[in-house]
Amino acid sequence: MIEPREIRHDILPEIRDRWSPRAFDPDRPVSDGDLLALLEAARQAPSCMNEQPWRFLVARTEESRRKLVGVLAGRNPAWAKDAPVLLLVLAVQAFEETGKPNRWHLFDTGTAWGFLSLEAQRRGLVTHAMGGVRVDQARAAFAIPEDMSIVCAVAVGYYGDPARLEPDLREREHPSPREPLESLLFGGDPPSV
Ligand SMILES: Cc1cc2nc3c(=O)[nH]c(=O)nc-3n(C[C@H](O)[C@H](O)[C@H](O)COP(=O)(O)O)c2cc1C
Repeated sequence: MIEPREIRHDILPEIRDRWSPRAFDPDRPVSDGDLLALLEAARQAPSCMNEQPWRFLVARTEESRRKLVGVLAGRNPAWAKDAPVLLLVLAVQAFEETGKPNRWHLFDTGTAWGFLSLEAQRRGLVTHAMGGVRVDQARAAFAIPEDMSIVCAVAVGYYGDPARLEPDLREREHPSPREPLESLLFGGDPPSV
């Protein structure tokens, strides 16, 4: 039984219920229609000057997933190998028209991943972002040009059996808590929490 997080205000159920599990069902693929809808959700994200700097490398075949798992760091390979879809989230660093650096490329790409994760939640899928990517290896393995940031990897699929996880990972198989609402306020004159 997964304990829900304490949430004090009425918010979208997809935001309320989303969390980052590690138990993926290796035998349940994600349909093309679902995957395209997730990318569509990312596509609709707002961005500075409508630059849309996000790019998604999609690994679905066993070969390309193995290649992507091979550039993950730490404990990530141990569980991400079971996800039927792995994404490498990339971001174009400069504005296309002027070539000037786009200071917001990571911010905007984060928004796009957020939208993607919520659409996944709506469709009964789960997602888990991974900053633990060996960036130099990933760049070489997938021929990613230097002018693109490698932001993170994301596992996408259906929730599986946590009993299959190794013990240290199984222990962490629950939604993480959040700091109290007042802790994210910095100055200004917000409503009292
Ligand atoms: C940018 C980013 C990088 C992350 N990197 C990892 C990672 O390398 N490995 C991992 O197991 N979880 C990773 N996570 C998952 C976070 O630990 C998780 O989102 C956080 O604890 C909040 O929990 P929740 O998503 O279940 O609400 C990452 C999440 C984000 C957004």
